[in-house]
Amino acid sequence: MLMWTDGPLCYGGDYNPEQWPEQVWSEDVALMRQAGVNLVTVGVFAWSRLEPAPGRYTFDWLDQVLDLLHAGGVRVALATPTASPPPWFSLAHPGALPVTADGIRLHHGSRDTYCAATPAYREAALRITTALADRYAHHPALAGWHVHNEYGTTCHCEHTARAFRRWLAARHGDLTALNDAWVTSFWSQHYSDWAQISTPRATQYLPNPGHLLDFRRFWSDTLLTAYTEQRDRLRAANPALPVTTNYVLGGWVPVDHARWATEVDLVAVDHYPSAVDQGAEEQTALAADLARGWARHAAVHRRSAAPRAGAAASTWLLMESAPNQIHTAGRMHTKEPGRMMRHSLAHVARGSHGALFFQWRAPVGGAERFHSALVPHAGADSRVFRETVALGAALRRLTEVRGDVEASVALVVDAASAWALRHPGMPSTLPDHHDELAAAHRVLWHAGHTCDTVTPGDPLDGYRMLVLPAVYLVDDTTAGWLRGYVHAGGHLVATYLSGVADEHARVRLGGYPAALRELLGVRAEEFHPLAEDDHVRLDDGATGRIWAETLRLSGADTVVSYTGGVLDAMPAVTRHRVGTGTAWYLSTRPDDTTYRRLLDTAARAAGVTPVCPDAPEGVETVRRRDGDASWLFLLNHTDHEQHVPARGVELLTATPVERAVTLPPGGVAVLREHKG
Ligand code: GLA
Repeated sequence: MLMWTDGPLCYGGDYNPEQWPEQVWSEDVALMRQAGVNLVTVGVFAWSRLEPAPGRYTFDWLDQVLDLLHAGGVRVALATPTASPPPWFSLAHPGALPVTADGIRLHHGSRDTYCAATPAYREAALRITTALADRYAHHPALAGWHVHNEYGTTCHCEHTARAFRRWLAARHGDLTALNDAWVTSFWSQHYSDWAQISTPRATQYLPNPGHLLDFRRFWSDTLLTAYTEQRDRLRAANPALPVTTNYVLGGWVPVDHARWATEVDLVAVDHYPSAVDQGAEEQTALAADLARGWARHAAVHRRSAAPRAGAAASTWLLMESAPNQIHTAGRMHTKEPGRMMRHSLAHVARGSHGALFFQWRAPVGGAERFHSALVPHAGADSRVFRETVALGAALRRLTEVRGDVEASVALVVDAASAWALRHPGMPSTLPDHHDELAAAHRVLWHAGHTCDTVTPGDPLDGYRMLVLPAVYLVDDTTAGWLRGYVHAGGHLVATYLSGVADEHARVRLGGYPAALRELLGVRAEEFHPLAEDDHVRLDDGATGRIWAETLRLSGADTVVSYTGGVLDAMPAVTRHRVGTGTAWYLSTRPDDTTYRRLLDTAARAAGVTPVCPDAPEGVETVRRRDGDASWLFLLNHTDHEQHVPARGVELLTATPVERAVTLPPGGVAVLREHKG
């Protein structure tokens, strides 16, 4: 199989020729060549153009587009258009329209308006997939397949309910086990027949936590089956072509991305920051580190390893990003000049084999008519297109960059914990696994550390420090995995709400966090959730937010105590030495300055040093390494000129660097480092 990662860095994005008259297509290809675009994903939402009536296919336009792209040297990730069924489908199959938890059936008029558990939808999706596979699997333009778009929909219809029951029976075996897992003795919810179980629809008061959690897991598996069905059809037509789908990130997504990673030939992620300040760069780094973590997880757990000649196992692909605007609530923020380059290179630094965008050309109409594009409404005579050309040139100059990303810190990510913490019956709505993960990542990012992300159970060799950010569900295997890490000399930093419940979201007894109590050397009796604008004071002058606990020591030492209020003089942050390893516990969320000081202390003790200890704050530094060769990415996110001591050859300008790189405000540099 020839992977996209085997060739030069990928550059391009979603190309929607179906939105444009034929005359525009040749100009598109000419502009793509000018910009150095080498990979476009075609047809993502083109179902109604490909199959205007049931079983009637109109492929002539796509034939033409693929031929044009091929002649222009642009490779194609051909999409299956199944994220947007045509109006005729919804009319013919009203039962395949999705139903909300409130029992409202949605109507056609946007995209993603289908129930992926409904046979009619799945059959129609497989039919159009097969038709595309039959016609294009051997087209010379094809580099691979892009299945669907951002899987993440759910539904509460009767088809779903039936499928959910089947899934539950497979997971739990019998009703006794299910009743036990869901603790249905509470509120008279005992099920005596499978038929009594529905999806967790809108109900009178708080829903059952086990029920909700299993529903998320069910959707992750159901959507995965919808994906693998298509993938298998496409593979059967031409096993040499890689198949993937683009992940959408966000706490709401009912997809366990780690689990999915073992079923795609290449992890592909869409990323759109939601902050306009430096939060955008923090989020970009985290998204890339997540993607790399899933790719590495897949390399370890994939049943049949996908061949990846020349590329590190942790290589992934940024499948979508925005050339320009950052979308914030109610407003689009125009990206400053140079920011598209910095965001793209941040992804490449962190293992993406290139940068793809949504979208190639901005449409005249449709819901996303003001979404940014590489060719904006203004046309090619525009700042954005000039930056597009510059980015294409930069990526070409980075062709030699390869190898894994250097990181000696890892953060644990767990989809099920994120879902379980969102249950409305938690002691507070504020704690959030992704938020806690982002907080630790942000602090480490500012301190100049590169972090990997890992899924519970992944190998931990080489990580001197491991952060466990509100990993609420810890089963016995995961508890053993963490114990093994610390006993082998690892340095663990666990935050509040880690290890409190088991895999079914049942609270573990005897004092929180029961799964980790012994390892952390602490025991919490009571939680003290804080109001959004509230804080607790710590005895080093710092503050804690979101959460606090009545914590007692059972082997650990106090590092920081609470001061004032009911928790006065009680431990807030603790450290437990276990052989040569250490287990820290943070029972509150310290402010960023304090958090950084604590993580710096833990990192120093663990022997973790920043990528570039002399780099100024605000310059992101990431190193890729392949054997003896290494490349240092320097991204200046500040408004000032910055200097970073380094030696090597700067690849973007092909300039030797003897002592230091000078980065203009917002500038970037990539060094092939000299050894020694
Ligand atoms: C997602 C989708 C695209 C587009 C962008 C807009 O990533 O996949 O089709 O809607 O969001 O940001």
